[in-house]
Amino acid sequence: MGYREVVLKTESSRCLLCENAPCAQACTYGVKIDQIIRSVNFDNEQGARYMLADNPCVDCIDGGCMQACSRAKFDLPVRIDKITELLSQQNPVSVPDIDLTTYLCGVKCENPFFLSSSVVGSNYDMVAKAFDCGWAGVAFKTIGMFTPNEVSPRFSELDKEDTQFVGFKNIEQISTYSLEENLGFFRELKKNYPTKVIIASIMGSNEYEWTKLASLCEKAGADIIECNFSCPQMVGEGLGSDVGINPELVYLYTKAVKKGTNLPVLAKMTPNITSMIPPAVKAVEAGADGLAAINTIKSIMNVNLENFSSSPDVCGKSSVGGYSGKAVKPIALRFINEMKSSDKLKDVPISGMGGIETWYDAAEFISLGCSTVQVTTAVMQYGYRIVEDMIDGLKRYMSSHNFSSINDFIGVAEKNIIPADDLDRSYICFPRFDREKCIGCERCYVSCYDGGHQAIKMNSDRKPVLDGKKCVGCHLCKVVCPVNAIDPGKKVSKLALTGH
Ligand SMILES: Cc1cc2nc3c(=O)[nH]c(=O)nc-3n(C[C@H](O)[C@H](O)[C@H](O)COP(=O)(O)O)c2cc1C
Repeated sequence: MGYREVVLKTESSRCLLCENAPCAQACTYGVKIDQIIRSVNFDNEQGARYMLADNPCVDCIDGGCMQACSRAKFDLPVRIDKITELLSQQNPVSVPDIDLTTYLCGVKCENPFFLSSSVVGSNYDMVAKAFDCGWAGVAFKTIGMFTPNEVSPRFSELDKEDTQFVGFKNIEQISTYSLEENLGFFRELKKNYPTKVIIASIMGSNEYEWTKLASLCEKAGADIIECNFSCPQMVGEGLGSDVGINPELVYLYTKAVKKGTNLPVLAKMTPNITSMIPPAVKAVEAGADGLAAINTIKSIMNVNLENFSSSPDVCGKSSVGGYSGKAVKPIALRFINEMKSSDKLKDVPISGMGGIETWYDAAEFISLGCSTVQVTTAVMQYGYRIVEDMIDGLKRYMSSHNFSSINDFIGVAEKNIIPADDLDRSYICFPRFDREKCIGCERCYVSCYDGGHQAIKMNSDRKPVLDGKKCVGCHLCKVVCPVNAIDPGKKVSKLALTGH
């Protein structure tokens, strides 16, 4: 990534992603500039370039879009002129004709993108809108035999500088619609969207309830049953993630669900456990056809040092709740990889989730073995519309990497995650400094000194100079460089370095 990419990303990320965006409304040529910038923000720069092609933005002297920019109400407007100039420096490529069809436990899905079970898939109108936007299916908000008495407020978020929702915490429980209302939503959705996939997420409190719920959901038109063994907010005995950490209960309830339905059954696993393998294997032994992971991670978001409460603050009190969003993706990928590495689970289909925001995130889950992916937090933050760039971006990636179907690339990255002891420890990969790109901020120097091996000195031009005798090749300098001016350089054998 060079300056061009850094500036494009940084400036685009200043966009507030307004709905009915004033910038697009102000454009006399009807350019959907809001969508173009959104595509850049959602890892789909190629799609942005394609949308921009043949539009007059680069020669436009009107500037109405920037005058209308909502950000100008409290800050400088987004530099739309700069963004369009940078985008137009490279040629647009049309959307390739790629079929994104995939199968989850034998059920056909028009693409791998699903809403995960949560507030984003709570009723008919919401799910119909999501289907119209392009989502292949929905894991409906978990339904049970009772409706909970929810608290207010119930969400809080972790942010960092300009980025909201690095992580997100909720203390929500299951659906607040009655069982009858939920079954009605399923019937109506199946009637009006017969090719979309409905995953009914259920949670019983005893075997009878699990069997009954599965059977009722099948009759109402669900295509797949997902057993919610993993909600960290359901604290009643034998409910939520307490089930998911108890392999015997997972076995018992999966069996009960299989008794009530002939549909494929997914067991949704909790990450609040050291290894997912024991409960996942028990689910499969009891007849589960696939797995879903991860549910949210138990968390306490913060402590307010004025009143010593934590958020979400319910009359001065809070409780442990489920953490989700971008920050949890590495943890989710680890659990997916763990299950796919197990001999007993390697052929079991997985619907993966946890921190997916873009097609790129989704493709990472697929390359580690998932057949489909699910999303909640990013939809809560940005809306159903993010699926447009997921579909477009994934098609473009697959075409440019010669994958003709999703099946071709499910699991392609699995072989590259190996035990730490098996990694090649015979060489040092030294960083290579691009002195042209370096802006002399000295961030590499301070990190190397205070958090590394004191291997960088700055010369009189404020450019880094490496001491090869001290450098261990950790690449801390590379990851802190704000302008990507440091690349992996030469790999040198440790034997050559020590001389023996
Ligand atoms: C507000 C909220 C409500 C949720 N409700 C449910 C639920 O009812 N059933 C369930 O299985 N998972 C529920 N989840 C967990 C999500 O389905 C998903 O597993 C998790 O949030 C990770 O994905 P994400 O990072 O894309 O949000 C909920 C998550 C959130 C944020």
